Amino acid sequence: MDVRRLELELRDGTAVVARALTPADRELVAEGYRQLSPEARYQRFWVRDGDVIGDAMLDRLLTGDPPEHAVWTVFDPAREGFKAMGAASFWRSAKDPAEAEFSVTVLDGDQRRGVATLLLAILWLIAYRHGMVRLVGYTMPENTRALRWMRDTGATGEWDGYNAVYRWDLADLDSLPATPAGAELAGRLAELSGVIL
Ligand SMILES: CC(C)(COP(=O)(O)OP(=O)(O)OC[C@H]1O[C@@H](n2cnc3c(N)ncnc32)[C@H](O)[C@@H]1OP(=O)(O)O)[C@@H](O)C(=O)NCCC(=O)NCCS
Repeated sequence: MDVRRLELELRDGTAVVARALTPADRELVAEGYRQLSPEARYQRFWVRDGDVIGDAMLDRLLTGDPPEHAVWTVFDPAREGFKAMGAASFWRSAKDPAEAEFSVTVLDGDQRRGVATLLLAILWLIAYRHGMVRLVGYTMPENTRALRWMRDTGATGEWDGYNAVYRWDLADLDSLPATPAGAELAGRLAELSGVIL
């Protein structure tokens, strides 16, 4: 039985909940999309105009289960109003079933608190449990923050002519870099592997 909800703490001690999103979460995801800054929305969804997420995107995000697809959010249950801090997903590649495409978005006000690294650790373990050995993230070359975060969490990059393509090797924990983000990822993987694997 797959784990679908975890109670955890951020490094600053904030109690948070991580859980899988379901088709019942359309309103939540639509509101999260509205709350993204235009820059973050563009970086994650590649869309410049509007703050209303389309039905097709909602269907695609919220439909499906591992191993084909996973989508999780992290939220602060004690917060007034909108509680979600970020979300991440993967889709298994049709061409290469050992690989899944990963993406993550954290709301501007919750960045640099370890939310993306926590979501990466959760989806890393779910993907690995279901037989995948690589996560791959596509990022625009000007998205320096995401590029740095991917590199600092151990992904290796190449340029495909349009985007930076970064891959995490899910089986190689020994190569996680000695950066703060790399150390945080290693800690999360150790913390969660017994629960998820
Ligand atoms: C890129 C993005 C996902 C990062 O999210 P985040 O939640 O801020 O990431 P984290 O907090 O886990 O890590 C970010 C920073 O905190 C730092 N950090 C991690 N652990 C730390 C610690 N213990 N002490 C101090 N700093 C720490 C990391 O070093 C990292 O800094 P770096 O990027 O300079 O290496 C976020 O900026 C975002 O949503 N951007 C818009 C959407 C996007 O670009 N998505 C990427 C497409 S896949």
